[in-house]
Amino acid sequence: MKALLLSRFLLLLPWVLVVVIVLDIDSSRAPPPAPGPRGGGSGGGSGGGGGGSRAAAERASPPRRPEAALPTIYAITPTYSRPVQKAELTRLANTLLHVPNLHWILVEDAATRSELVSRFVAGAGLPCTHLHVPTPRRYKRPGLPRATEQRNAGLAWLRQRHQHLPAPQPGVLFFADDDNTYSLELFHEMRTTRKVSVWPVGLVGGRRYERPVVENGKVVGWYTGWRADRPFAIDMAGFAVSLQVILSHPKAVFKRRGSQPGMQESDFLKQITTVEELEPKANNCTKVLVWHTRTEKVNLANEPKYHLDTVNIEV
Ligand code: UGA
Ligand code: MN
Repeated sequence: MKALLLSRFLLLLPWVLVVVIVLDIDSSRAPPPAPGPRGGGSGGGSGGGGGGSRAAAERASPPRRPEAALPTIYAITPTYSRPVQKAELTRLANTLLHVPNLHWILVEDAATRSELVSRFVAGAGLPCTHLHVPTPRRYKRPGLPRATEQRNAGLAWLRQRHQHLPAPQPGVLFFADDDNTYSLELFHEMRTTRKVSVWPVGLVGGRRYERPVVENGKVVGWYTGWRADRPFAIDMAGFAVSLQVILSHPKAVFKRRGSQPGMQESDFLKQITTVEELEPKANNCTKVLVWHTRTEKVNLANEPKYHLDTVNIEV
């Protein structure tokens, strides 16, 4: 009996070994996991593009671009030099990296493109257009609207890029200030904008949130604690506009003349839409998906007047 078992075992052993070896070879050939939530594909544009490792990861995985059919979201971000600038841009880029088919239009409030932002854009791994325009000195005063010239530069770039294209491209424009906090769901919501869409904004206007009041799917008023007389009582972070509307209203821009802080949104929206036309998003404007966060002014009280360190570090 023992001899019989032993002979059977010896007969099977080589086959078991063969199966184990084949399985081992097979698993070592299996493809590596997908590179990340973006899944590959950078939509072109100047700057942008990832490093070598990212490109290698994209080559290794099979092409997977269901997002190619999605309308492109163009996010216009004005930004200016200050101690927290790179931190803000890092936070924002980390959010935008999760959004498929997004083109970032980063507009520096500066006479030239700064090295810091140029380097940042080159390493961000996002399709990005890096523009710059300085705010005239007379407008750099507290109490005056900010980023007017930068948003207009972004609008001009967008119009110029699309004016010669034979077919209209599906797209959505959104003004993404560099210090706000954006949920990923917000981008999902705004992508279906037909003309102009709106939603609540958290931590703004001296309240926990502001929101468009919606009845029967239409905006009928505004829940706000600040200047309720505004035609569109909404923050810059509370709306998106379809590319078609931007192209069919070529003169719609942000204005310096006569514009007060808090009125920029209304002044702009008045040129392209009406309250009746607005499309409520975020479950009929009952969900906060974006927060008007503001970064505390950084304490540099102990920063030496002259450079003391042995190295120069970009912060
Ligand atoms: C509020 C609104 O949310 C802004 O959209 C609006 O532009 C601003 O008021 C205004 O007063 O005009 P708030 O948080 O007070 O926002 O403004 P900031 O976040 O300081 O500035 C808005 C954007 O403009 C930011 O992306 C910021 O980087 C940029 N900015 C600000 C400049 O490009 N240059 C400046 O001198 C200041
Ligand atoms: Mn802000």
